[in-house]
Amino acid sequence: MTYVVTDNCIRCKYMDCVEVCPVDCFYEGENMLVIHPDECIDCGVCEPECPAEAIKPDTEPALDTWLKLNADYADKWPNITVKREAPADAKAMDGVEGKLEKFFSPEPGQGD
Ligand code: SF4
Ligand code: F3S
Repeated sequence: MTYVVTDNCIRCKYMDCVEVCPVDCFYEGENMLVIHPDECIDCGVCEPECPAEAIKPDTEPALDTWLKLNADYADKWPNITVKREAPADAKAMDGVEGKLEKFFSPEPGQGD
């Protein structure tokens, strides 16, 4: 089992999650983060910390797309353990539908 970052992280990218993860298993893309499924210890600490409610346990239904995306990009993007400032329009982007199709970027973030 692992926790997974899902759609609403895209362009919200609050990064509160990275501050609490005991095993530092978040990886940074240009406009979202992902969790490395082989490193996550399923502690669940990050889930309530996300203001966008974007982190889910993989026991929830219909997360296949996100499980694969987290696994794929955790291998490509840099590790992030320190929170920076969220995007200026993070609040406006919270809850926008279909972010994966409209806004997902495969580009890496800057990491720590
Ligand atoms: Fe890190 Fe725990 Fe969240 Fe997994 S569930 S990403 S180990 S804080
Ligand atoms: Fe994304 Fe939530 Fe973390 S918006 S960066 S999963 S705190």
